[in-house]
Amino acid sequence: VLRPAWLEINLSALADNIHNLKSVLSPHQQIIAVIKANAYGHGAYPVARVALEAGASRLAVAIVEEALELREQGIAAPIMLLGATPREAAPVLVEQQIEAPLTDVEGALALAAAGRKLGKPALAHLKIDSGMHRLGVRAEEVTSFCEQLRGLAGLEIIGVFTHFSSSQIDPEFTLRQLNIFKQAVTEAETVLGHRIPLRHVCNSGATVRYPEAWLDAVRPGALLYGIPRDRGGMYMPEMRPVLALKARLSVVKPLYAGESVGYDRTWQAPRDTRVGLLPVGYADGWDRLLSNRAAVLVHGQRCPIVGRICMDTTIVDLTPAPDAAVDDVAVLIGTQGQEQVEVHEIAALCDTVVQEVVSRFSARLPRVYYAEPGDERVQRALADQRSLLSDAPLRDRANSGQHG
Ligand SMILES: Cc1ncc(COP(=O)(O)O)c(C=O)c1O
Repeated sequence: VLRPAWLEINLSALADNIHNLKSVLSPHQQIIAVIKANAYGHGAYPVARVALEAGASRLAVAIVEEALELREQGIAAPIMLLGATPREAAPVLVEQQIEAPLTDVEGALALAAAGRKLGKPALAHLKIDSGMHRLGVRAEEVTSFCEQLRGLAGLEIIGVFTHFSSSQIDPEFTLRQLNIFKQAVTEAETVLGHRIPLRHVCNSGATVRYPEAWLDAVRPGALLYGIPRDRGGMYMPEMRPVLALKARLSVVKPLYAGESVGYDRTWQAPRDTRVGLLPVGYADGWDRLLSNRAAVLVHGQRCPIVGRICMDTTIVDLTPAPDAAVDDVAVLIGTQGQEQVEVHEIAALCDTVVQEVVSRFSARLPRVYYAEPGDERVQRALADQRSLLSDAPLRDRANSGQHG
């Protein structure tokens, strides 16, 4: 039985987004699809398959286990790790040809040793800290770092990258980081004596804003899922949101003027009204900060969330949707009729970023994957996993007209 609260993942929108991004890049520029944290909650395996089919050539995850899971599921494409990598993982990374970030000499030596032992090179991307001051070799230390790696057998540096701290808000600092990166790459290549093939710096914010920073590859996450506020622009077609959060009204009932609802009595009905219960709560990753702030769509109307969001339940004021009844579909994120609730609105209400909103949706919410009619790309991508695809979202839409 499908829980009456679920995430719908439109894999055709994902494929379109990748295709659109690819269409503005130069032919030699690759897409590294960032699919860490279960593809930002969208589901790593189907997202990986469709992204690769639609034009991404590489994948990036945060941690070793995420990469291994994809390998176990049969994903053979290049996978790189973005996060700090435990030294003990070196042998399995080499074995599975998972690419590691190079951030310190000890880590590089561990990778090289594993590479020699297993008789195939450890693949790595030199990570340069150009100003984020999180992970990476400080730009001014790149020369001495590379001197220590020069001629090291068992290690192959196939990429070099950095990460922007403020690509959405600070062009001056972003371009300064880009220059620091380029300078450091020149120094690294001088010491190593060869060009490092894959230079990549662009997260989503930089991908939409700085074509001069696309280099050999771009490395977006949020943009592929169509969730940033700026999901297109001067250099980029508009991306489509991939994910929707929906639930069926489980209870509809009256609330009389002056009565309060929920924990701590934070909302009182100003007049006789009807409220609806939705079986979604903060344990699903639906943030409690949305209490008395966000609205959900019912019958295409924005119905405000009233009272505190509970662990498993959200209560809405159905005044704008007077005919709403049990089992009607409410859209918490997504489109219904003419109305839309976007992830970036929810993020703003929670004082956070879009990435946090979607990556926190818990495993308890079923993911329903679908392709738009006639989309061969998705069918091909999931050819050996057809059972992952559902046509329920399309059926619901057809059956319920604007109320779907
Ligand atoms: C190193 C690195 N590159 C790329 C990304 C993708 O970022 P975004 O989702 O903003 O595109 C992330 C995500 O945090 C990251 O840590």
